[in-house]
Amino acid sequence: MIELRDITKSFHNGPTTTEVLKGINLCVEKGEFVAVMGSSGNGKTTLMNILGCMLRASGGSYRLDGADIESLDDDQLSAIRNKKIGFVFQAFNLLEGTSALDNVLLPLVYAEHYPDDAEERATGLLQSVGLGDRVHHKPSELSGGQLQRVAIARALVNEPAIILADEPTGNLDTASSEEVMNIFKRLHAEGKTIILITHDPDDAARAERTVFLRDGKIFHREEVQ
Ligand SMILES: Nc1ncnc2c1ncn2[C@@H]1O[C@H](COP(=O)(O)OP(=O)(O)OP(=O)(O)O)[C@@H](O)[C@H]1O
Ligand SMILES: [Mg+2]
Repeated sequence: MIELRDITKSFHNGPTTTEVLKGINLCVEKGEFVAVMGSSGNGKTTLMNILGCMLRASGGSYRLDGADIESLDDDQLSAIRNKKIGFVFQAFNLLEGTSALDNVLLPLVYAEHYPDDAEERATGLLQSVGLGDRVHHKPSELSGGQLQRVAIARALVNEPAIILADEPTGNLDTASSEEVMNIFKRLHAEGKTIILITHDPDDAARAERTVFLRDGKIFHREEVQ
């Protein structure tokens, strides 16, 4: 479903060019749960932004469900992003002053059609992540673990096939991390494709396989041990 071939990415700041990704080759099948590890600054978030169609690669090819991503225009990219991909971030990225329910509904406001059952769907998702009694709470009234569960419900509201999570447990204590990882396990069991960026080997151990980003390339476990 996801196929990256020789993906490169460079950033230009004035006269300096930083070559972050130097030829990424990675295939992820539908329904796989893959962890991505690597030192800080190695380009994990950059890779996730490319996978999530938020950033264009400098070179190489990216096929997603048979579509050649590099040949699509910005509108086509955002349509694919909204339909197929749910994002979860380390810092939650929820709207302050807005209830859990309205945060979860937000992606639907940007969808082509606002579904009739939107509120029911969002409430059901909040219940499924254990927040049925926090639907009307605002971010300032929720714990870190609860905030991340709201963010997961938001990522799911468009029923994406793929979940991209960038260090989702990075700001959480052990117990909350465990809850969040259990939700990813359940989503994987339900057939979602999950790509999880993490610094935590315990989190990575929950995935089916781990790949390592180093020197701008992807290595598999047997290559780094
Ligand atoms: N928009 C940008 N412009 C210039 N340089 C950038 C940009 N985005 C990222 N970089 C650079 O690319 C490199 C990789 O950054 P990235 O955020 O992908 O790393 P990371 O592996 O996610 O790190 P961390 O584990 O700390 O989150 C860094 O050197 C960073 O400074
Ligand atoms: Mg990062």
